[in-house]
Amino acid sequence: MEHLLQPGSGGNSQIATAICPNIRRMEQATIEQLKKVEIRETARLLALAFSTRPGLIKILKGQRDKECRAIAMFEFSLKHQPGNTLAAKKDNRIVGVIRFVEWPHCQLSPLQLLRFFPTMLVEMRSTALHYARQGLTWYRLDPKQPHWHIDPIAVIPEMHRQGIGSQLLTCFCKQMDEKGDRAYLETDKPEYVRLYGRFGFEVTGEADVHSRHFWFMWRKPRGKSANQP
Ligand SMILES: CC(C)(COP(=O)(O)OP(=O)(O)OC[C@H]1O[C@@H](n2cnc3c(N)ncnc32)[C@H](O)[C@@H]1OP(=O)(O)O)[C@@H](O)C(=O)NCCC(=O)NCCS
Repeated sequence: MEHLLQPGSGGNSQIATAICPNIRRMEQATIEQLKKVEIRETARLLALAFSTRPGLIKILKGQRDKECRAIAMFEFSLKHQPGNTLAAKKDNRIVGVIRFVEWPHCQLSPLQLLRFFPTMLVEMRSTALHYARQGLTWYRLDPKQPHWHIDPIAVIPEMHRQGIGSQLLTCFCKQMDEKGDRAYLETDKPEYVRLYGRFGFEVTGEADVHSRHFWFMWRKPRGKSANQP
């Protein structure tokens, strides 16, 4: 089984260790690097947070045991795909998460999808084909220039609108500004376009993908060290 980058095992994860002390003091949640043992809990959070979002509903359409399928899908991505994941915690419980991946590793290439497919079938079962099909689409749409890709960000539903998503974005943007790197994301919800706009993301394109309308957003780093493409 191929592990492109283990969470918490160097590489991209090094940048996220002792982050955001100011935010920790000011806000209620603490932001920490996700630990490997927390992957399952995080996958559950993601399955719950995305359970009402059209993308996940579409992938799980007609599947039995939707919750298990959704958890397996998020767990696969956290376990096997490269990326840096920050967890927001309250009372030792993970209440929010943001994962970001450095280009060109944001999406699995067709070859990687092929190599991973047996693992995907074992871990995701009937969802594997849908997951691979979506993966191919997003691989094709991924900008072919340096960026850090947010995928995904989520907060546990009962704690929405308490500033936890903003806390995670603040940490992420601070890292981008320190590194002088550009960030990118896509979203299909106008309310989230406004949320990301507050953090300096700007809409640079729009398109319909698998019958949903998406906004593509870029963020330039603030400060002196900006690495322009
Ligand atoms: C996106 C998400 C992570 C935001 O987390 P959050 O902790 O609720 O965000 P915040 O409390 O920091 O919200 C900040 C601002 O964003 C805007 N916003 C966030 N969610 C909104 C919603 N559902 N409707 C309207 N505005 C919203 C508001 O302006 C809000 O400020 P306000 O509450 O003072 O009006 C959360 O809604 C979520 O987990 N969604 C489901 C998963 C998902 O779709 N992720 C994003 C994929 S692109």
